[in-house]
Amino acid sequence: MSWSQTAYADPAGYLAHRARLVVELGPRLRPGDRILDLACGDGGLADFLPEQRYLGVDASPEMVASARAAGRDVVEGDLNGYEPPEPVQATTIFRAVYYARDRRELLRRVGGFTETKLVFDLNPRQYRVDDVRADLEAAGFDRLVLHPFLFPQRHAPPAAVVRALERTGPLARALLRARFSYLCAAFRTTA
Ligand SMILES: C[S@@+](CC[C@H](N)C(=O)[O-])C[C@H]1O[C@@H](n2cnc3c(N)ncnc32)[C@H](O)[C@@H]1O
Repeated sequence: MSWSQTAYADPAGYLAHRARLVVELGPRLRPGDRILDLACGDGGLADFLPEQRYLGVDASPEMVASARAAGRDVVEGDLNGYEPPEPVQATTIFRAVYYARDRRELLRRVGGFTETKLVFDLNPRQYRVDDVRADLEAAGFDRLVLHPFLFPQRHAPPAAVVRALERTGPLARALLRARFSYLCAAFRTTA
């Protein structure tokens, strides 16, 4: 069983929901756009972004081997120093921002090779949104949109219910005070 299959009760539902937001939140990605997924695990997200060109990076040789066995384009590397061979339209970082040795420096470097947007998750109980926003602005990302991401890791709800709940505004924000994270897209006014 792959890592994604053990990490998520409904890996297809969870990753499809995440992938849709990667494409749609903030400036919309286009077919053929390049996505760099930092700390990608076994790269399971790639299967739900069939129109984009996906490259994953993970520090774990076991994760990389598992990703490659599943036919995904994943290389071994440390998010604290990795530079892609060419600029990408989107960089994603999921469940891994806390591996940054220096978050401001990581975001600055990502800003140097990311043309359209950075998409990541943010636990508002762990990080102050204003602190992250300041680091993003220092990296050149002057726009930030936050979307409540209410798909649980350990349960398998109908995706339509999750989507409806995420649109409830105050109720969604109340849930975030106890559980779940925001999915965030950072970009430039000119993007
Ligand atoms: C919780 S998993 C998240 C995997 C995937 N992004 C997801 O959300 O399903 C964290 C991943 O970060 C990787 N990782 C930890 N430190 C890293 C680093 N410094 N650079 C790259 N990957 C790292 C781990 O090997 C692991 O696969």
